[in-house]
Amino acid sequence: MVGTEEATSNNLKNTTPNETMRVPSSDKVINLDQGDPTVYEEYWQRMGDKCTVVISGSQSLSYFAKSKSICWFLESALEDSIRQLHRTVGNASADDHYIVVGTGSTQLIMASLYALCPPDRVQPTHVVAATPYYSCYPEIGSFMRSTLYEWAGDAKTYKGEGPFVEFVTFPNNPDGEMREVAVKGTTEGKLVHDLAYYWPQYTPINVCANHDIMLFTLSKCTGHAGSRIGWALVKDEVVARKMIKFMEVTTIGVSKEAQIRAAKILEVVTESCPSLGPENFFQHSRLIMADRWKRLREVVKEMEFFSLLDYPKSYCNFANVYSTTQPAFAWMKSDENKIKDLEKHLKGEKILTRNGNRFGTESNYVRISMLSTNEDFNIFLERMLAMKETMEAVQYNGI
Ligand SMILES: Cc1ncc(COP(=O)(O)O)c(C=O)c1O
Repeated sequence: MVGTEEATSNNLKNTTPNETMRVPSSDKVINLDQGDPTVYEEYWQRMGDKCTVVISGSQSLSYFAKSKSICWFLESALEDSIRQLHRTVGNASADDHYIVVGTGSTQLIMASLYALCPPDRVQPTHVVAATPYYSCYPEIGSFMRSTLYEWAGDAKTYKGEGPFVEFVTFPNNPDGEMREVAVKGTTEGKLVHDLAYYWPQYTPINVCANHDIMLFTLSKCTGHAGSRIGWALVKDEVVARKMIKFMEVTTIGVSKEAQIRAAKILEVVTESCPSLGPENFFQHSRLIMADRWKRLREVVKEMEFFSLLDYPKSYCNFANVYSTTQPAFAWMKSDENKIKDLEKHLKGEKILTRNGNRFGTESNYVRISMLSTNEDFNIFLERMLAMKETMEAVQYNGI
């Protein structure tokens, strides 16, 4: 799927480790388009063999998992570690929900649409999200040209009649805002709460979320995007069973190897939580995100051409500190519309970002991943500062 969070072949060309070694930093293309969570690599390297799992040739031959769950392909070790992690972090009420595992939460977005859109309607059910919305929702909503559902755009201005599905992303991708339901004045809507970023490194945990459908992903929680594991917490058994049916028909379940690995990783993260030192995963990643945001804000302030959103402080029940949201993406704006196509401008500086128009807004906005390697993040900041001089020298009438 071109243009989703996954790396496209073009972008990958610029970021393979071998090439990183060869390309001088001044020539290196810095890919901050996808939210590829390589920032966490250093932590997991330090953890050494703690998450190593050995899977013998005689293991996991069956399609089925030995589990009591209605999700017949869900490994019980993964179910236990998901429930335990939510109890420890306090970000979502998992114990009174069914768990449906998916190949990333991307597959669960599709499964939730299948489950929530009535099959007997003449018109497809509308799918909406408030702008700026996660760029994959419109792609998923229209890609299959389904007769079940169709993408209908901005939830804030939606005036449709009949049933609809609204995605509420909390905190939001791309702008980090703590979102509430945007379509008002109707009870016809079904909600999917996408909580991919509701973890302590990105935002204070001050409510234990308890919605009908809540989506999470290993990618943004621990950084293991390549394992392709996501999970949905689903209140209603009928909805959960429909989502399970979707997984059955599309992929006959989810890789057991990936689930076993994910179970181990989540267990290690949970076990790290009582620690006060750098082995505490969330504490470690919270400090890295805080440092990156501080440095980016300093550079943006110094440049005077761009702006970032400010986020209010609140108390994090998990970390026991007051802090602000420090999102996985920076939502950067060219002030006074000086640069009309900011993505194009940054691309000229060999910095790949995602254009505001992909999120239903204007091209003077870009989304910048804050989850890259340290090296790439440092080069990005250096290049931004170097840009200041060239930008000051030029009279911008729009590019
Ligand atoms: C808001 C949101 N939801 C869902 C996903 C999908 O994540 P994955 O398919 O890697 O689990 C992402 C990925 O970036 C996201 O930002």
